[in-house]
Amino acid sequence: MSLAEWVNFPSLGDERGSLVALEANQTVPFEIKRVYYIFATQQDVARGYHAHKNLKQVAICITGKCRMIIDDGKVREEVWLDSPTKGLLINDLVWREMHDFSKDCVLLVLASEHYDEEDYIRNYDEFIKIVGA
Ligand code: TYD
Repeated sequence: MSLAEWVNFPSLGDERGSLVALEANQTVPFEIKRVYYIFATQQDVARGYHAHKNLKQVAICITGKCRMIIDDGKVREEVWLDSPTKGLLINDLVWREMHDFSKDCVLLVLASEHYDEEDYIRNYDEFIKIVGA
């Protein structure tokens, strides 16, 4: 079974162009407490390398693309975020890494909780111990 869960956002386009609405508990399957975005990522930089104990996120490349690795300790999977109408749902206890950011990449992330450094697991061995894999 695939680890990657996608949320497909309807594009409410008309002759003027496109529009996507992100609504808590509707198109986004949780209450959104925080939104952040990653942009102007330098070439050959990889980000992430952590998991969260209690945090759900939806990641959308609203422009450009990047490659994301998700890993639950048993399955490691690679996906491309490359569409403003396609969000990747990342659940609790999923290790994530982001690679190969295009120059124009803007990675928008919707999060179910406020920022809390205590919620991060930044060490892969510790992550594996916690998930018991
Ligand atoms: P981090 O989550 O480590 O970035 P990434 O996983 O994309 O590589 O965050 C980078 C820095 O920004 C770190 O010092 C924590 C800070 N930060 C906040 O203050 N608030 C936030 O919502 C996020 C996501 C990060």
